[in-house]
Amino acid sequence: MAGTEIFGKEELAAVRDVIERKMIHRYGSHAARNGIYRVEEFENRAREISGARHALAVANGTAALIVALKGIGIQPGDEVITSPFTFIATVEAIVACNAVPVLGDIDETLSLDPASAERLISKRTRAIMPVHMFGAAADMDRFAELGKKYGIPVIEDACEVVGGTYKGRMLGSLGTCGTWSFDPNKTLTVGEGGIVFTDSEEIHSRMDCYHDHGHIHSKEHDRGAEGKSGLGVNFRLSELQGALGLVALQKMDYALGLLRSAKKRILEAVSDTGIVPRPTHNDEGDTASHVIFMLPSAESAVKFRDAAVSAG
Ligand SMILES: Cc1ncc(COP(=O)(O)O)c(C=O)c1O
Repeated sequence: MAGTEIFGKEELAAVRDVIERKMIHRYGSHAARNGIYRVEEFENRAREISGARHALAVANGTAALIVALKGIGIQPGDEVITSPFTFIATVEAIVACNAVPVLGDIDETLSLDPASAERLISKRTRAIMPVHMFGAAADMDRFAELGKKYGIPVIEDACEVVGGTYKGRMLGSLGTCGTWSFDPNKTLTVGEGGIVFTDSEEIHSRMDCYHDHGHIHSKEHDRGAEGKSGLGVNFRLSELQGALGLVALQKMDYALGLLRSAKKRILEAVSDTGIVPRPTHNDEGDTASHVIFMLPSAESAVKFRDAAVSAG
């Protein structure tokens, strides 16, 4: 389900409000904005939902991954172990930091296999980046163990699992950093947008500066009069997307409810056919954005797909 399917009058009202107030920049103009900062509200709500200490809203999920890598201090030539089965943005984010993606194997859940990640750890490894694929968690207990054992930050690419959980904890909040995407293909969308979570004050502060040209944000000073921490980029989110994000988070439970009841119906319908659904590391936390079946061969997978398409 794409997020636009649940767009309604709430999104219209949220966007109209931002346009009527003509206050589109998330930072600055403190005196003129009557204390209204929609992106900040979006971050605060995401933080509450996730349980993470800090949340930074950025331009998209790819930007969230880049900002997370910059936040942990990634340097050119550093190695980042990640999944070979992901959306290309995971690898692009690593390459954008002039770091080296090192691809492990996947397990039966289609997420990075921790044993293969451990085998790839070298003296140049600076991060492990599991990807929670198609709504379901990677093996986070094992990744937490690896991170601890080798002193390597774990960055969760949780772009595809907004609202998904692992043993009761929100995906994106379990690693050193974690990222969500709100792009147009996601269950909740703001057009384009992302969030990066961390519990570390220091990492958050570096990410906060980096994502906005190095500005040291402060409500005491107006835009341009604050300090600068160094070079950065522009990965800011606008107030329009912040306002949409607040509505999206209000609709999170509703959206997940729709997906989960549809998936339940599909799985019940095929329960006596011998078709095997993808196993997960934590069934309850699956967002149910996808229904995936494991078939014994590539040939049977193609046959199944063709039959499903012709059956509508
Ligand atoms: C696993 C994964 N990582 C990262 C991204 C990037 O997110 P965005 O499209 O918001 O840049 C996506 C988006 O499809 C994704 O599926």
